[in-house]
Amino acid sequence: MSANQDYLTRLRQIMPWGSSTCSKAVVWPPEEPAVLVRGRGCRVWDADGREFIDFKNALGPVTLGYAFTEVDAAIRRQLENGILFSAPHPLEAETAELLASLVPWLEQVRFLKTGGEAMAACFKIARAYTGRDRIIQIGYNGWLNSLAGGAAVLPGRPAVAVPCGVPVALAQLHTALPWNRADEVAAVLERHAGEVAAIAVAMDYPGAAAGVTFYPELRRLADWHGCLLIFDEIVTGFRLAHGGVGEYFKVRPDLAVFAKGIANGMPLSAYGGRREVMAVLERAIVSSTHGGETLSLAAGSAVLAFYRDHDVIGHLWRMGKRMWDGVDALFRHYGVPVRTAGLDPVRFFQWEAGNEEVRERVMRAFFRAGVLLYNGGYVNYSHTDDDIDEALARMDGALKQL
Ligand SMILES: Cc1ncc(COP(=O)(O)O)c(C=O)c1O
Repeated sequence: MSANQDYLTRLRQIMPWGSSTCSKAVVWPPEEPAVLVRGRGCRVWDADGREFIDFKNALGPVTLGYAFTEVDAAIRRQLENGILFSAPHPLEAETAELLASLVPWLEQVRFLKTGGEAMAACFKIARAYTGRDRIIQIGYNGWLNSLAGGAAVLPGRPAVAVPCGVPVALAQLHTALPWNRADEVAAVLERHAGEVAAIAVAMDYPGAAAGVTFYPELRRLADWHGCLLIFDEIVTGFRLAHGGVGEYFKVRPDLAVFAKGIANGMPLSAYGGRREVMAVLERAIVSSTHGGETLSLAAGSAVLAFYRDHDVIGHLWRMGKRMWDGVDALFRHYGVPVRTAGLDPVRFFQWEAGNEEVRERVMRAFFRAGVLLYNGGYVNYSHTDDDIDEALARMDGALKQL
């Protein structure tokens, strides 16, 4: 039995999904790696020593690359001096200041560990600030916030009714709405006039272009109805632009959450926004023991300084375009019923309906050829032109064989 197969069996025996993160659960073994044991730059290796050029990047957080020298050195330096203390550490101030200097509308910032947790903090702030209970949600905001009937319980997976395990009374305070339907947002705000605390929005990757009109419209609606606008920048922050969709589409939210882009894989999320809004935290308590954990802050400040000093964003756009344009050309050439859609740093596959079997065969072939993909995916700063060309050559060979 291969080492991969052994771990897959053990994981499926000891834990539901065979993974603590649902979107990392293995779907297509043995081609898809069951466990990954090592990474460097844009490549990862599984337990049987197979190498993959990686476009999954731990679901987005590895934006600079695996074992990235500047970040790992910062973590090691801090490790020599302790991990967690009983008072704030200087890194807490320094990392927050650095983040605010790169996203100027963040007047105040605070740290937690996960994106979903930080979004939950924003909902509490919005409710305390407005004195209202209802939240409108567009897109996935983390597992603990998937509360409304029809909400995305995982990225791209809507619940059919009230999500399993959620009390109906709580679900009734949350409304899940689709991307780019300002008319539906307006209708809910009218129907529940004076009751909506916030509109929270996570960008739809394939439909991202609509953000040009959708984000300004959400800003207008939030202002008109006196509710807050919360941007979930967990994926988009430090990927589309430093300030994510807020900067890219030039619309200011009242609150925003950054997570996957800020610490190259260390568990760090930041929530922040207008000082006057953040002030309600004096009354509405958000607090966690590991909020100021210093290894993640050391990573975060090294990552943010690297973004400040290098054109990481430009690189992600260039490499993304080279990769996904190349993939689309291959799909066209071989007549595969799928296209990529979205903005270059995060483009996703859109399969023509009814092609599940083709999809599985294509994905298995890509894994077999040593290319690790999500449903589309992400590039990182360590992908070079040569890495992209090698990945495309591997995919070309895989499709030719199919
Ligand atoms: C847009 C978006 N929001 C929120 C989350 C939740 O973040 P976390 O898994 O860190 O709680 C994710 C995670 O995939 C996400 O993609």
